[in-house]
Amino acid sequence: MAAPTTSAAAGPARRPSAARRALDAIDERMGIRALEYPVPEHANNLGWSLGALTAISFFILLATGIYIAQWYNPMPELANQSVRDIMTQVWLGAFARGLHFWAAQAMFVLALLHMLRVFLHASYKRPREGNWVVGAAMLLLAFLAVFTGTVLKWDQEGFEALSHNLDVAGVLGGLGVWFSTDLAANVPIILRLYTAHAVILPGLIFTLFVLHALLVKRHKISDHPAIAHPEVEEPAPFTEHLKRASAYGLVLLGVLTILSVLVPPVLGPTPVEGIETTRPLWMFWWFFPFEQWFGVPSVAAAIAALFGLIFLVPFLDRSPRRRWQERKVSMTIAAVLFVLLVAISVYVWINNPFGH
Ligand code: HEM
Repeated sequence: MAAPTTSAAAGPARRPSAARRALDAIDERMGIRALEYPVPEHANNLGWSLGALTAISFFILLATGIYIAQWYNPMPELANQSVRDIMTQVWLGAFARGLHFWAAQAMFVLALLHMLRVFLHASYKRPREGNWVVGAAMLLLAFLAVFTGTVLKWDQEGFEALSHNLDVAGVLGGLGVWFSTDLAANVPIILRLYTAHAVILPGLIFTLFVLHALLVKRHKISDHPAIAHPEVEEPAPFTEHLKRASAYGLVLLGVLTILSVLVPPVLGPTPVEGIETTRPLWMFWWFFPFEQWFGVPSVAAAIAALFGLIFLVPFLDRSPRRRWQERKVSMTIAAVLFVLLVAISVYVWINNPFGH
């Protein structure tokens, strides 16, 4: 006869709770416990959770975007009215549009802050150079997503954004043909921008995000450069990190909800050709006056130069030093560039060359 597995001293084995049994059943089929791998304590603080918050903003954008897409009409003569209808006729339409608008701002700000965190801690150094490049590609795609989204509402602001874009496409010659009306004479450009905004760009961002996350898992999260002995840090399961990031995410959702209700995005009347009365969203301000100052080609050159520099960061800074105090050259260049971009943006904000 087999020996009893539970001794009388240890008491009878307790049947696992229903929740535990459900978890076990799911784990057996989906392998969710693989998520319990250890991550260092410092990965749980807010600075090291900015990437997760960027991802959460992206998922809010996907959900709200899918909702409002049901009523949006991308034909030029109907686009502006369809957005108006979403705000006035559709159940929760104005709220969903507000959340979409504010989540886009949040994703952009959080991606920038996340990039600054990675830069400050030199987390892009070997072996993470490739993942920095994947991140920079996502930033570029997010930038294009904000631009295409602005055009879709087809009011004066959207229309002017598109005409500036067509000017830049003109100087790029063959390279700019996708952004121009020349590519497909019988398809309105707003329809192609809509396809890019709703399918191509989110699809690419999502694919790159999966790669980004897999690379974070493969390389493990970088050590904190200020912690001299990483081995003394208490590791916690990644599921704890997910719980913490979800709590930050709920706070983010709360803030975005309040903003959507209190400061809904504006929608101007249908556009009038040949006038210049708006300025773009703040993330375009750093190059906005270049057209006036140095001509249209300088806008293309400025965008290419800044993104080129961002992509190249890990290849320009090859030293193994990670503490910011020991990286005087890269920190100084980054600080000067940052101040310059903020100064031009403040100039646009104050002078607001074209009213708004
Ligand atoms: C645009 C959307 C982005 C999303 C959703 C995203 C998401 C994430 C997440 C969840 C992490 C894990 C740890 C953390 O949050 O610090 C991470 C790490 C990382 N990200 Fe991003 N990221 C984005 C953009 C960027 C950008 C713009 C860059 C740089 C140009 C970048 C470079 C990196 C690097 C190098 C790591 C590894 C950091 C480490 O091990 O400490 N990411 N990202």
